[in-house]
Amino acid sequence: MLDVFGDYSARDPFAALADAVQGCPYQAVAENGGPYALRAADVRRLLTSGDVWSQRSADRRLAGLSERDAARRTELKRFLSHWPVFSDSEYHQRARRTVVRLLRGTVTPELVAACTELFETRLATPVGKSFDWLEEVARPTGRELIATLVGRADAARLIRLSGAVMDELAAAHLDIALIDHALEAVEELRSWLEAARNDPPTPFVAKLGKVWDDPAYGPEPATAFLTQMITGAYDPTTTALCVVGERVGAQVLLDLSVTVLREEVFRLATPFRFATRYARQSMSVGPYRLEADDRINLCLGTANLDPAEYPDPLEIRARENAARALSFGAGKHYCPGALLARTVVEALLTSLKKAQVVFDAEHVEREPELPALRYRKLRGSLVPAV
Ligand code: HEM
Repeated sequence: MLDVFGDYSARDPFAALADAVQGCPYQAVAENGGPYALRAADVRRLLTSGDVWSQRSADRRLAGLSERDAARRTELKRFLSHWPVFSDSEYHQRARRTVVRLLRGTVTPELVAACTELFETRLATPVGKSFDWLEEVARPTGRELIATLVGRADAARLIRLSGAVMDELAAAHLDIALIDHALEAVEELRSWLEAARNDPPTPFVAKLGKVWDDPAYGPEPATAFLTQMITGAYDPTTTALCVVGERVGAQVLLDLSVTVLREEVFRLATPFRFATRYARQSMSVGPYRLEADDRINLCLGTANLDPAEYPDPLEIRARENAARALSFGAGKHYCPGALLARTVVEALLTSLKKAQVVFDAEHVEREPELPALRYRKLRGSLVPAV
């Protein structure tokens, strides 16, 4: 059984996920009402199937909240319903086209050059000298990525605000303090965009300003797109960069190509471990019967470690099917930011290969919750790869 609500700050979540998919392909968890599908074949089939969708149905947990708290939760849910990832049908198709347009032109030689410069500086740290890879490498690179979207001046502030929304989404339980905090952050993000669109720092913000003014969208969806893209970009990319530090050893750095390493890093990292879907009509998933609107949790994190598709799943090695891994989802919600994330991780691997060093992680701390992999500390030092 996968301990979905467990505390993984000190435990290695990779081993728990790999064990779970071998032992138990499905499991029921009472609290959020939905069973879990753990196997790669089921998760891929459901992500690409028309039998389930992403639009959130009524949350049964609201019944346990006070009137005030239920209203706050409903307000946040209404905001999230504008996010492409939580929508479906005609709105999703339109929103997705818009998001793809917003992201066009964001993978630039300037982004690669800025990341490479940062890596070269950090990788010049003397061998054996201790530093925090999260603070010195992963977070500054994540900020570079966000800066290409919203400009350098406000990148850190917007990351902090969107982090409050991410904290709520990553929590395994409903937590009213997190909901309040997320709603305050959304308000500030909205105010920022309202002002920034008058003097846009980047083409991305200029295009978002048009979404704000478009009567078919307006301020709420424009703020939702901004928030989803910062939330969806910063945390998982920072995590993937940490996984490079924690798990790419000397031998694989020397033996494998950057492309192979990059795909293996994303497969192992799977920063968002679950994709939630809702049944559109009665259906069965393994031993479970779902009625219309019932929730099902698709576990990307276990699917990517399923030995049926990836023998010795915790090893980094050349695999023909690594690019089929589900870290960026699959089907109509497939991540439109995958190229951006791949570009910065590839730049890091290229710099490591050039410098012929790897990071030896001595002290690792992670956020406790299972649904998203996020690091708190990754201390260690560089060691020669040869
Ligand atoms: C390591 C980095 C990233 C990972 C692991 C990741 C993961 C994912 C996953 C799993 C989904 C699909 C969720 C589902 O089907 O329910 C998704 C969707 C999405 N991602 Fe990413 N993402 C990453 C980076 C980015 C970046 C850099 C951006 C934009 C700047 C972005 C924007 C989006 C958007 C807008 C969607 C919704 C697409 C839709 O619903 O049509 N992501 N991402």
